[in-house]
Amino acid sequence: MDVKPFTFGYAELRTATNDFDSSNKLGEGGFGPVYMGTLEDGRVIAVKQLSVTSHQGKSQFVAEIATISAVQHRNLVKLYGCCIEGEKRLLVYEYLENKSLDQALYGKKSLNLNWPTRFDICLGIARGLTYLHEESRLRIVHRDVKSSNILLDSDLIPKISDFGLAKLYDDKKTHISTRVAGTIGYLAPEYAMRGHLTEKTDVYAFGVVALEIVSGRPNSDSSLGEEGAFLLDLAWDLHEKDREIELVDSKLSEFDAEEVRRTIGVAFLCTQTSPVARPSMSRVVAMLSGDTDVSTEVSRPGYLVDWKFNDVSTLMSQIEQGTTDPTLYDSCSSTSIVADAMPSQRERQTHPMLQDNGE
Ligand SMILES: Nc1ncnc2c1ncn2[C@@H]1O[C@H](COP(=O)(O)OP(=O)(O)OP(=O)(O)O)[C@@H](O)[C@H]1O
Ligand SMILES: [Mg+2]
Repeated sequence: MDVKPFTFGYAELRTATNDFDSSNKLGEGGFGPVYMGTLEDGRVIAVKQLSVTSHQGKSQFVAEIATISAVQHRNLVKLYGCCIEGEKRLLVYEYLENKSLDQALYGKKSLNLNWPTRFDICLGIARGLTYLHEESRLRIVHRDVKSSNILLDSDLIPKISDFGLAKLYDDKKTHISTRVAGTIGYLAPEYAMRGHLTEKTDVYAFGVVALEIVSGRPNSDSSLGEEGAFLLDLAWDLHEKDREIELVDSKLSEFDAEEVRRTIGVAFLCTQTSPVARPSMSRVVAMLSGDTDVSTEVSRPGYLVDWKFNDVSTLMSQIEQGTTDPTLYDSCSSTSIVADAMPSQRERQTHPMLQDNGE
């Protein structure tokens, strides 16, 4: 692609963020800190400082950014451009006033989202993912779908962020990735264990996010004891007793029980152990909106029953060594991981977007 993305000068971004003042810091994820800023033309931006130095050359980086900024949809965060100066790499995004969905649902300043808003958010995320998987010119697997990567604008419209940060791939390339990049708790089992990456990896993570939206709690919460620590586990316990409505966030005084059941049913389908049993995102949209019935042929994922939950570092080190053992899978952290699934190519690198595809 020879389209040049918009590039910002470092001085311009420094001015916009008041010299990256800590009061402007929005948060920090796996790739570096994010600052809020205002450009001279008045646009409010979020600047992500990529803290890891890239192995990728300048032109390759610019090409990646051009590709990502061309992918636009109502439910995707807009990437305005980037900044490259020396070793420095920064990404400039539109600023989303209501921050991320995790904060809105269960952060210190939660937004007390009502049910219709939550349901619309769920549908919006599903539409954004449908676009990435099935409608955009390039097929894009996000790889790190989670509530902190869903941002809400001033009208509470959800926008998926960080989508271009994952490796882009097209049909001709292998669907087996050599690298696991995602967040524990949202990771589909086949991806966590074997590095097998397809759109269905995102579908799985979407199912987890949908349960968080219904319940208003994170996918894992060790303070809730063994019984309720894992959201998917809890949801299945309730479902098997025909009490799934109890999963609904206690902050919600009113909700449409039929929509809640539909959403939980879709979440179960999305988190089926076998990727082929999971629906496509366009089917998810159809099911959520009531155009297609939600199949009730779901089974409780085996790993919820069989796996022992252990400390997160065990899983992480195993993934790094390529020796992940399903009996040690842990979903009790929201740690972001970027690690190889294949030991032969174990060199730990920076960021999915910044690496050579190696194919
Ligand atoms: N465009 C934006 N507008 C408003 N807030 C943002 C924006 N981008 C990021 N943030 C805030 O900054 C925080 C950190 O974002 P960042 O993407 O670095 O980390 P993360 O999403 O928690 O993890 P990951 O690195 O895996 O994406 C987010 O949780 C969000 O609250
Ligand atoms: Mg993010």
